[in-house]
Amino acid sequence: MLLLKAVAWACLLFITGFMSRPQPTEIDVVLTKRANADPIKTSELAKLMRYMYDETARIKPLIASSKRIGSFPKKFASVHTATPTDPAEHNETFKIFADNYLNATQTLYAKPSTASYNLVVQSCLNCHQTHCLGPLSRIKALMLPPS
Ligand code: HEC
Repeated sequence: MLLLKAVAWACLLFITGFMSRPQPTEIDVVLTKRANADPIKTSELAKLMRYMYDETARIKPLIASSKRIGSFPKKFASVHTATPTDPAEHNETFKIFADNYLNATQTLYAKPSTASYNLVVQSCLNCHQTHCLGPLSRIKALMLPPS
């Protein structure tokens, strides 16, 4: 009798436990899908920066051996408009540093040399010293020894 009671209770607990199990709502499903698809959202500006970094790293050995580097990548001009991770980045100093960077880059593509190349890397560093410290040492490593 005691055993029967225990079995009955166990069944009841099992059934109620099963019924009250929280079901994922539609929103949960959407959020989970989104989190899986893009765990860390990469901003437009971060993507552009990766491109700027890759392009600078690509031309570094070409400059060192006085080879042709091609023409100014138009994409760079969107440094002013690309959305940053933190909207507060878009302030007055950012605009000035972005202009310095674009001017230095235009000069580099017009007159490639170790000096004009290093001025571009310096313009990256100038902005990064106040706006985004993380990649500083990676950017410093882009510098060429003066020729
Ligand atoms: C006008 C300011 C400014 C200039 C100039 C600049 N950066 Fe950045 N950079 C930023 C900011 C702000 C971020 C953070 C972007 C974000 O998280 O949205 C960033 C992010 C980066 C990142 C990290 C991207 C990632 O994976 O999240 C790298 C690498 C980088 N910059 C390299 C460079 C290089 C190389 C140059 C020069 C060719 C350069 N930056 C010029 C402001 C600048």
